[in-house]
Amino acid sequence: MRDFLTRLPKAELHLHIEGSLEPELMFVLAERNGVALPYGSVEEARAAYDFQDLQSFLDLYYRGMSVLRTAEDFHDLAMDYFRRAHAEGVVHVEMHFDPQAHRVRGIELPVVMEGLSLARRHAERELGLSSALIMAFLRDREAAEAMAVLEEAAPYWEMLDAVGLDSAERGHPPSKFTEVFMRAAQLGIPRVAHAGEEGPPAYIREALDRLDVCRIDHGVRCLEDPALVARLRDEGMVLTVCPLSNVRLKVVERIEDHPLPQLLEAGLRVTLNSDDPAYFGGGVLDNYLACQRAFGWDEATFIQLAGTAIEAAFIGDARRTELRHRLAASY
Ligand code: ADE
Ligand code: ZN
Repeated sequence: MRDFLTRLPKAELHLHIEGSLEPELMFVLAERNGVALPYGSVEEARAAYDFQDLQSFLDLYYRGMSVLRTAEDFHDLAMDYFRRAHAEGVVHVEMHFDPQAHRVRGIELPVVMEGLSLARRHAERELGLSSALIMAFLRDREAAEAMAVLEEAAPYWEMLDAVGLDSAERGHPPSKFTEVFMRAAQLGIPRVAHAGEEGPPAYIREALDRLDVCRIDHGVRCLEDPALVARLRDEGMVLTVCPLSNVRLKVVERIEDHPLPQLLEAGLRVTLNSDDPAYFGGGVLDNYLACQRAFGWDEATFIQLAGTAIEAAFIGDARRTELRHRLAASY
């Protein structure tokens, strides 16, 4: 099964590139940039990755990214992840990035864009790996700041495959960002949002009704609202689910308790993703393997999941056709 799951051409639709920063690279970049880390060693860093909830993770996530200072750092971060993903049979990566988390540290958007763009070109050329870019807004900061970032990104609008909404969910409903997302819509930029990870099903409804999103990131709490489940199914809405993340952030207690089987049973379009692989114990393949072990799914289920990711990806017709063929040839 491991060989089969590795071979399967997997598209990853939910990854925070800053959450792919492994402790090894964190130490290299800290040294390069003269940044002090709160950990004495790689092992100490990993041992600290023991989270109670989303906020306790976010605290370490924002601290960890303080080592990212130059375009070269962002390039190295993304290439490091792309190489690992490629080795696991990932063929396409859609990465969220958090411009506001860098801006507050004095790292401006052009630095981030230059580094990530260069890495994307390298990955395409060296690994045949395609990618997409999702500029995420931090929902626990003011909407006006998100709007300013969107306007500031004018030179890069063409390069954005979508805008997203992430960070601390509770108390920060999607409706707070209605204006920002309507501006993105006016600009022709697609929209996605984290909703129903820690927040209630009502936030999923708001993301649909107010932000006009084409995908919901996480969305696992939709099961608490049967009418919402019916709506998601009828609209063919895609959920980018991250099972290992949900375990590590205690959205569920154990992987065996994860609602993925119910989501599939309900006829929802589901994909498997890593979220923040450096912090949550593995990449896309590890998420596939964890589900195989927990739920005993057969090959057909994984082919369906991988197929949904290809159908829901921000890619052009030619690449989608190519990935469909690669999927069909892989089993
Ligand atoms: N930022 C990085 N990872 C996140 C997650 N799992 N939820 C919300 N915001 C995030
Ligand atoms: Zn996420």
